[in-house]
Amino acid sequence: MNFLLKLTKTLALTLLSLLVLHQFSLEIEASSKVDYSQDVIYQIVTDRFYDGDETNNPTGELYSPDGNLHKYLGGDWQGIIEKIENGYLTDLGVTALWISQPVENVYAVHPEGYTSYHGYWAKDYKKTNPFFGDLEDFQRLVTVAHENGMKIIIDFTPNHSSPALETDPDYVENGAIFDNGSLIGNYSNDEQGLFHHNGGTDFSSIEDGIYRNLYDLADYNLQNETIDRYLKESIKHWLDLGIDGIRVDAVKHMSQGWQETLVNHIYTNQPVFTFGEWFLGKGEIDPKNHSFANESGMSLLDFRYSQTLRSVLKDEDATWTDFHEMITDTAASYAEVNDQVTFIDNHDMGRFTSDTTSKTDTEMALAVLLTSRGVPTIYYGTEQYLTGEGDPENRKPMPEFNRNTKAYQLINKLSDLRQTNPALGYGNTTERWINQDVYIYERKFGNHVVVTAVNSGDKAHNISDMETALPSGSYNDVLDGLLNGNSITVNQDQHVNAFALNPNEVAVWEFKAENEKPTIGHVGPMVGQPGNEITITGEGFGNEDGKVFFGDEAAKIKNWTNSEIVVTIPAVDAGKYPVAVETSSQVTSNKYKEFEILTNKLVPIRFVVNNANTDYGSSVYLVGNTQELGNWDVDHAVGPFFNQVMYQYPSWYYDIGVPAGKDIEFKFIKKDSQGKVTWESGTNRNYSTPTNGTDTIQFNWNN
Ligand code: NOJ
Ligand code: NOJ
Ligand code: CA
Repeated sequence: MNFLLKLTKTLALTLLSLLVLHQFSLEIEASSKVDYSQDVIYQIVTDRFYDGDETNNPTGELYSPDGNLHKYLGGDWQGIIEKIENGYLTDLGVTALWISQPVENVYAVHPEGYTSYHGYWAKDYKKTNPFFGDLEDFQRLVTVAHENGMKIIIDFTPNHSSPALETDPDYVENGAIFDNGSLIGNYSNDEQGLFHHNGGTDFSSIEDGIYRNLYDLADYNLQNETIDRYLKESIKHWLDLGIDGIRVDAVKHMSQGWQETLVNHIYTNQPVFTFGEWFLGKGEIDPKNHSFANESGMSLLDFRYSQTLRSVLKDEDATWTDFHEMITDTAASYAEVNDQVTFIDNHDMGRFTSDTTSKTDTEMALAVLLTSRGVPTIYYGTEQYLTGEGDPENRKPMPEFNRNTKAYQLINKLSDLRQTNPALGYGNTTERWINQDVYIYERKFGNHVVVTAVNSGDKAHNISDMETALPSGSYNDVLDGLLNGNSITVNQDQHVNAFALNPNEVAVWEFKAENEKPTIGHVGPMVGQPGNEITITGEGFGNEDGKVFFGDEAAKIKNWTNSEIVVTIPAVDAGKYPVAVETSSQVTSNKYKEFEILTNKLVPIRFVVNNANTDYGSSVYLVGNTQELGNWDVDHAVGPFFNQVMYQYPSWYYDIGVPAGKDIEFKFIKKDSQGKVTWESGTNRNYSTPTNGTDTIQFNWNN
């Protein structure tokens, strides 16, 4: 009797908790796959995070039970699942996990003793890396992450397979790639032209980096139809498994044209936030990095942001004035500055925390990172003050999972702020006070305001007469004094009463009030052809369907809430259009920038023009009759063409994403360094683009 009663009670309790859990999980479903403005990404080197399943660890030479950092150490997807389920990651407050490339990698050990634990040496993109888990484990990771309000971002390497040597088929695994188990080809016996065979790049030019190998990695010929199809099928495989984002490796080393077709393929199948790695060293500014971020359809990891913040707080060889200059410059250079992915360190640079910096520097850097424009990314272990100067020391295993560190609590508080105050995700940045030690900046979106104050010097500063958009009143530090922040009072004329900012103090103050007017904060993605799905986020859209305009054309509404609208791109002429929302009571929003409507889905075509002799400093471009080819506007011509590696001067070539299945017209032009244009003579060239696949077309310059 007693036993039965107990059993019923247990059953009832289990049922109840299931119900509660279910409701809870519904409430915190991972949000938009295209708007990461309110997210905090956590970058995990899967092998180095947590070993949740010892049975899947490699044996023999690949594995190092005593921590050789070039070998597999046992971390896996089960380990990540455990750290979500036990609350370590959810309480940390991060909302998206960027994990190592999940695909099967080579098993061979590199002659230098390196292994594929990092996931960058792919072998079969349609299989899982068995040391991370099987397909079921991956699916469980996605499900558990989603149930806990977290997104999963995968790393993806479409640039290369694995280390290979032209002359030695026994070197590692000869770059061989497989399509779900069946061999496609390898590097040294490459009859199908799957790979480039132009030696290693010396990084001397963009072209050299694209068409030669990155180190000893077998470099794909992305214009090869088999490779193009295989990589696009592969990314679709992972999209179908429910991933929410993609980090594309080494984007500087692939043609922008082919990558536009990849991004287009992603956005056509399942739009997810896609960002590329365009490495920039300390102090480096590259206009090509900006144009890539603005034209390719994907965001970039913001190395300039990272390097500058490191210079100020880690190396101490730059000032807050330099930092703020970077903030204003990048706001102008990046069309979507809030979509660039910011960080203070990663697996390719020294960890921010070192034996010579103090934990306080790391905390200040994290506070600035999490309150700046851009999508902040925390490299695993930063919250434990993990150190390590370079590869592989910067990829050490998690030392512990301590939830009491200041850094852990700081990330939790500021992640919460990002999710609740849209000034951080959508706002612009105004500098309010600056000197050699102090940086105070304000983020504002609609009526929402967040002000962050940091004093990285070793003396207190008296801040007086500081202007702010915060309405009059008193404001407590959002961090509750975690970094010694104090309260401030804003007077009637929107100035802050004088206050002292102490050494190493960081304070954050916020104001929230929803705008009743419809206000767009984000549109994603910002490019696509008619029929593709676009998400518009912001506030004040109302709860009844209104209209969304691309220029003058209304889009079909798929879903409408007060803060998020999903539409499909209307069938209008390709071109750039502002996006605007009109509520059901006919109030119109801000116009959101320039949305690019494409003519059709994109296919990668290599254009070659022979005998195009030029004066020194001049280059060949292509211009044609579609949006993708510049609509006959020479300022939007595609190029400059290349003339060194695949073809040599006076032949020129360029890989371009063109609309599929269309009759296009175009001409080649020459532009000199002053921008003076020389057109080819004769009538326009005609070309019927393929509906699928790739193509190379060759011409002679028309004198
Ligand atoms: C950049 C990655 O971040 C780096 O770690 C890797 O070795 C190279 N790309 C090659 O995939
Ligand atoms: C590159 C061109 O430069 C740009 O104007 C165009 O919109 C994109 N390709 C997308 O096709
Ligand atoms: Ca394991």
